[in-house]
Formats: sequence, C-alpha cells, structure tokens
Amino acid sequence: MSERANFGSKVGVVLATAGSAVGLGNVWRFPFMAGHNGGAVFMLVYLGCILLLGIPGMVSEFIVGRHSQANAARAYGTLTNRKGWGFIGLLGILTSTIILGFYSVVAGWCLQYLGTSAVGGLKGDSTYVQQYFQNFSSDPVKPALLGVAFVFITHIIVVRGVRNGIEKASKLLMPLLFILLLIIVIASCSLPNASEGIEFLLKPDFSKVSNKMFLEALGQAFFSLSLGTACLCTYASYYSRQTHLLQSAAQIALVDFLIALMAGLMIFPAAFSVGVQPDSGPSLIFITLPRVFQQAFSFLPALGYVISLMFYALLVFAALTSTISMHEIGTAFFHEELKMKRPVAAWIETIVCSLIAVFCSLSVGNPDIQVMGMPLMDFCDHLTAQYMLPAGALLTSILVGWFASKTLVREEFTNWETNGPKSLFGVYLFCVRFIVPVCIFLILMHQFGVI
Ligand code: TRP
Repeated sequence: MSERANFGSKVGVVLATAGSAVGLGNVWRFPFMAGHNGGAVFMLVYLGCILLLGIPGMVSEFIVGRHSQANAARAYGTLTNRKGWGFIGLLGILTSTIILGFYSVVAGWCLQYLGTSAVGGLKGDSTYVQQYFQNFSSDPVKPALLGVAFVFITHIIVVRGVRNGIEKASKLLMPLLFILLLIIVIASCSLPNASEGIEFLLKPDFSKVSNKMFLEALGQAFFSLSLGTACLCTYASYYSRQTHLLQSAAQIALVDFLIALMAGLMIFPAAFSVGVQPDSGPSLIFITLPRVFQQAFSFLPALGYVISLMFYALLVFAALTSTISMHEIGTAFFHEELKMKRPVAAWIETIVCSLIAVFCSLSVGNPDIQVMGMPLMDFCDHLTAQYMLPAGALLTSILVGWFASKTLVREEFTNWETNGPKSLFGVYLFCVRFIVPVCIFLILMHQFGVI
C-alpha cells in the first residue's frame, strides 16, 4: 500500500473533523428534532448525551483509527488479534452509505434554495413559503437530480485526495459559517414575539419528557458528532502521533454543540414570530428561514438578500464537508481493502449513494415508496440515527473497553505518555467500559418498552 496521506497541520486536523461534524445535522436536523421533542428538555438530554457518551465515544473511534492507520474495516480488525471485529467497520461503511444517500437529498434542497434565493424567488408570506417547499420537495425529478448532483460534487473532491480537498475547504469556511450564523441569530431574535422561541429552546418544561425523546436525543447527538459509523475512525487514521485525542474530541463537540444551539436560536424565535409550528418536521428550516431573511431585514432588503445568499452557500459547504467524510469511509475501504484504484473505489460509493438518494427523494412526494409505514427517506434517517449509530458506538466501546489491550489504549490516549492527559485515563476507561455501553443499552431497551 502506498504511504497514506497525513493532515498538514494540527489545526487542519481539528477543523477537518469538525467540518465532518458540523453540517445539516446541526442546522437542519437538530431544530426539527428539538422542535418535536419539546425544545429545552430535549436540549438537556442532548447535552448529557454529548458529554457522557459522545466525547468518550469519539475518543474511542479516534484510538481505533489512529492505531491502525487504515480504512474502517481493517482498523477494527487489527485492534485486537481477532480479525472478526472488522465487521464493526463494515457496519459503519453500510451506515454511512445510507446516510450519505438521504443526506444528499437535503443538501440538494439547500442547493435549490441557494438558486431560488439568488433570483429572489423566496419572497412571500408564510403560506407561500410553505407551499413552495411542499411543491418543490415532492416534485419527482428536480430534487432527485439535485441530490445526485450533490453526490457527484462530493465525488470530485474525494477523488482529489485528502489534504487538498478536505483540509483547505474546512479551514476557510467553518469560521465564516459561525460568523454568519451569529448575525442571523441576532436578526431572528429581534423579530416580534421572538422571546417565545428563546424560551421554548432554553426553558425546560418537564411535562414534555417522552419515551422516545431519549433515543432521539442520543441518535441526534451521534449523528451530529459523526459518531458510530467509523467516520471518525477513518479521519483519525490520518492523524499524527502528536494529535491530542481527548482535546480534539472536546473541541469538536463544543463547536458542534454551539452551532446546533445557534441554529436553534435562529429558527425557533422566527418560527414563533411567523406562526410556524415548531414541530413541523424536516421542512422546519426551509419554511422559517426565508421569512427571517425577509422580515428581519425589511429595513434593508438588499442586506437580507446578501445574507440569505451567503447563508445557503455556507450551508451547502457545511453539508459538503460532511458528505466528503461519509464518502471517504467507503472509498478508503474499496481502495485499500479491495485493491481498487482510488477513482474506481470512489465511483462505486458514488453510484450506490446516488441510487439511494433517488429513491429517498422520490419517496418524499410518493406514498407508494414506504417502508414500515414511513416514506423511505424518513425510514433511512430513523434506522441509521436511532439504531445503526448507537449500535456502532456500543460495539466500539465494548471492543476498546473490554477487548483491546489496555496498554495500547493507554498509549494512544496519552500519546505514548507525552502530551496526552494521563490523569484522565481512568475516567475515560470507566466511561468506555461502563457508562457508554450501559447507557446506550438502557436507552434502546427503554425505546422497546422493556424498561
Ligand atoms: N455530522 C454530520 C452533520 O451533522 C453528518 C455526518 C457526517 C455523519 N459524517 C457522518 C453522521 C457519519 C453520521 C455518521 O451534518
């Protein structure tokens, strides 16, 4: 195997992994999940999941990846001397391929909104904006084509290699997204009745605790951190021996949480202000945002125009840094394990994901494409986030906590007793051995009504 690429700089590593984490999961998925699970209580459980399960889970995936310096399947297979564990990597490759399929459809919607806002086509009252989304997303052709186009754009970047594509893009665009979100949050919070939305997101109402909320918060936390599909493992296989694993995980989790919080503060005040239900589902951001851009900037429509354009452009880029990371998992596997040339490996991933994207997109407006009573699109989201990601993270923590050599795990955690946080190793190991598996198990049991 040829020498594997390395990330160029310490900052590049964190930014590229953060680029994978920050995406539509934060801006599109988090608000509608929080919206239909009662807002602030969901936030609390979500935050708990990130701290208690997310960060240790991320470190575990980093350890598996950096130790092996290989693709997902080989990484899991070589951590212990039992190759069979490689199936966790294979499961991750399958999960990320399904996610990439439906994720591209939503990314395609963002492309459409970018184009429409460029020509000023998103102006109108909330009924108009709602209708616009409905008509567009249920169209059989255009959204499917845009979804496939998004997979192709991802393909092109992935084929160009790790350093050039991923690292450069993340370095520039992530901070820009952050600043723009901040501006939109301020605009949204200045709308009439915005305080109701802020309260909805930040003031817990414990009567809204529900059975399914725990699993949805867990799934959202993992989805948003890119955890449970060997995605972080694949990225960590490009890390250097000096990369501080715990610190990187904590920084990425913090950035990821802040972006989700900002997305919430951008959408709920606007939703309450224009009278859109906070639990209106996947369409939430697509019907509230156009109203923010019009109403909040009505004193200077040109500013609203520029901001909305920049916003959709950055959202597309944020989605792209995430799709690249999902695509890379499968591509690295086909390339290294099945000995295909990198472009051929990337093509296989691209074709499979495009097919999933087409069927998911068609299912949005077509009642015939259903699985277990939901449109295929929702089914893929539900299956991956709520079951496959927790399963991946659960298995990883069992492998790292109970089956891998403790010396190896300690060496990776402490960077061979150099700059790693030696005193926290015990805490980390306790989390990975007990807290993570037990909590995930309990949450799954709770969902099935066993407890
Ligand atoms: N975390 C990304 C987001 O929030 C999505 C993502 C990228 C992902 N890679 C992943 C989700 C791997 C699960 C697994 O948009």
